[in-house]
Amino acid sequence: MSTPNFPHQEKTLLKNDALHKYILETSVLPRELEQLKELRDVTNEHPRSVMSTPPEEGQFLTLLVKLLNAKKTIEIGVFTGYSLLCTALALPADGKITAIDPDRATFELGLPFIKKAGVESKINFVESEALPYLDNILEEGKEEGSYDFAFIDADKLNYENYHERLMKLVKVGGVIAYDNTLWFGSLAEPPNREWPERFHSVREFFLNFNKMLASDSRIEISQICIGDGLTLCRRLA
Ligand SMILES: C[S@@+](CC[C@H](N)C(=O)[O-])C[C@H]1O[C@@H](n2cnc3c(N)ncnc32)[C@H](O)[C@@H]1O
Repeated sequence: MSTPNFPHQEKTLLKNDALHKYILETSVLPRELEQLKELRDVTNEHPRSVMSTPPEEGQFLTLLVKLLNAKKTIEIGVFTGYSLLCTALALPADGKITAIDPDRATFELGLPFIKKAGVESKINFVESEALPYLDNILEEGKEEGSYDFAFIDADKLNYENYHERLMKLVKVGGVIAYDNTLWFGSLAEPPNREWPERFHSVREFFLNFNKMLASDSRIEISQICIGDGLTLCRRLA
């Protein structure tokens, strides 16, 4: 996969390509639903296809949502909807996912496959920046502690702002999952002058954000080494 804006080639932390291929070919791709594969194929034609959730992470999200028995979830950062479809498929028939993204056009690229998979009715797509939307529902005061699961995969520099709001919206015992928290595996590497400026600033951000999550006594955490790094936070109080 070509990723011209990023210094690392593939969105996987596995440094052994053969092992990554083995996992995909053995455990992930043979079980991937046809509509997910079709959505992924269309996404691969998009110039920003690197943003899409990789299939092994999508499979993990589906399992996690089922393990949590989640019914009401929220996603920030939809793009063409790979993670959205993985989540919607895992929800029960009366489950709902609120999916927020200011870019409706990319959501609509994946929508035909979401419809074909028969899960469109579980999705409430909100065409908006996430912060004002979250502030608005908090101000209305009807949704505090009502979400079982949140998946955050949007503008990285706002993750801390999202955290404070999601800690109110997700119920005690519910889970917030933050994507890209190992930022292309760069966090333990010395800074490299050849990295683009944005790559540096997001790397700096995640170094601080991960410390902040580790010291937040309101949550239990686990750093999952899948895709680009996924941090699970279970709300304790
Ligand atoms: C990495 S992509 C999401 C990938 C997606 N989870 C998937 O599986 O394909 C990031 C998305 O975040 C969206 N985004 C950027 N800023 C945002 C904001 N302030 N609020 C909500 N979404 C935002 C972008 O439009 C983009 O579609």
